[in-house]
Amino acid sequence: MFTSSFSRLFTLCSVLASTAVVFASPLPHAPRAPAPIPSGPKFVVYTDKAIDGNTEVLPPLDQIQGFNVVNLAFLLSDGPHDQAQNWASLDATTRQGIKQKYNAAGVSVVVSAFGETELPTTAGLDPTTLANQMSQFVLNTDLDGIDVDWEETALVLDTTKLGVGEQWLATFTQALRTQLPQGQFILSHAPVGPWFSPGFCPGGCYLTVDKTVGSLIDWYNIQFYNQSPDPGYADCDTLLNTGGSAVFNIQKSGVDVNKLVIGKPGGLDDVSEAQQAAAGGGFIDPATLGTCIQQAVSNGWKAGVMSFQFPNANTTWLSSVKGNSFA
Ligand SMILES: *[C@@H]1O[C@H](CO)[C@@H](O)[C@H](O)[C@H]1NC(C)=O
Repeated sequence: MFTSSFSRLFTLCSVLASTAVVFASPLPHAPRAPAPIPSGPKFVVYTDKAIDGNTEVLPPLDQIQGFNVVNLAFLLSDGPHDQAQNWASLDATTRQGIKQKYNAAGVSVVVSAFGETELPTTAGLDPTTLANQMSQFVLNTDLDGIDVDWEETALVLDTTKLGVGEQWLATFTQALRTQLPQGQFILSHAPVGPWFSPGFCPGGCYLTVDKTVGSLIDWYNIQFYNQSPDPGYADCDTLLNTGGSAVFNIQKSGVDVNKLVIGKPGGLDDVSEAQQAAAGGGFIDPATLGTCIQQAVSNGWKAGVMSFQFPNANTTWLSSVKGNSFA
């Protein structure tokens, strides 16, 4: 196994040797320490917008206190973009130093794949090849894992392509796990809420994905926003209890409640304009969201909270959302 991953790395190095991608590690043969993986609730913050004047790329630790995972957005099939690109552009020594500092503070650093700009299944990309390529990016740029923000919203509703997306995701997830073993690397997915609603997708969307490869996925950063029409998730009831894909509905459908991380926009500018215009863009002000979280915890949920994105999502936002719920 070591031999084969080394030879894969070597092959990739040859391929990349002529490009600007930073892959070298000062100790390429040294076994890597396992990535820190939060064992309790996950508090995940995305960073896509560059942070002005910040040579360390990541949101400053004192501004994201309480979060334990940072998701760098986004890694696409043609390479890293935005904050993922900024991270990859650091020299290896600097990057490893920053990573150690964040890990020491209890914060894992993960890259997020795709987002709304790439539809890899529709584009016909091979899931195994792409998973191998993206795993190498994780290894080469000193990351703690990968988040799969696959947003094929039209494909999953296409009755002529029944199960195509679900199958692609299963193969992609299995291939990622082969390279990034469970317990050593974080592997999360970031589906939108309705994809857990029974009958919403002809192929079952994430209810199918969870049945086939859910055991390989550490948790779901569920986007309870960025969609219309209803349920909207704009109040505690549609977020937690009603509509078919609220948190406790998803649990009833058979998904481990400890994997259902509640994702929300940090500020209104993190919801698309179309979603703001539509009723139920999913934005809930942090104080109100805090009351929902408290309700969820008292009903047996404690998976955690995700927010898109820094700087709207910061220590102040999270403190208000957490309250004393997780104390
Ligand atoms: C968080 O962001 C808000 C503005 O959205 C700002 O007022 C506050 O000072 C920030 N908090 C921290 C700890 O950076």
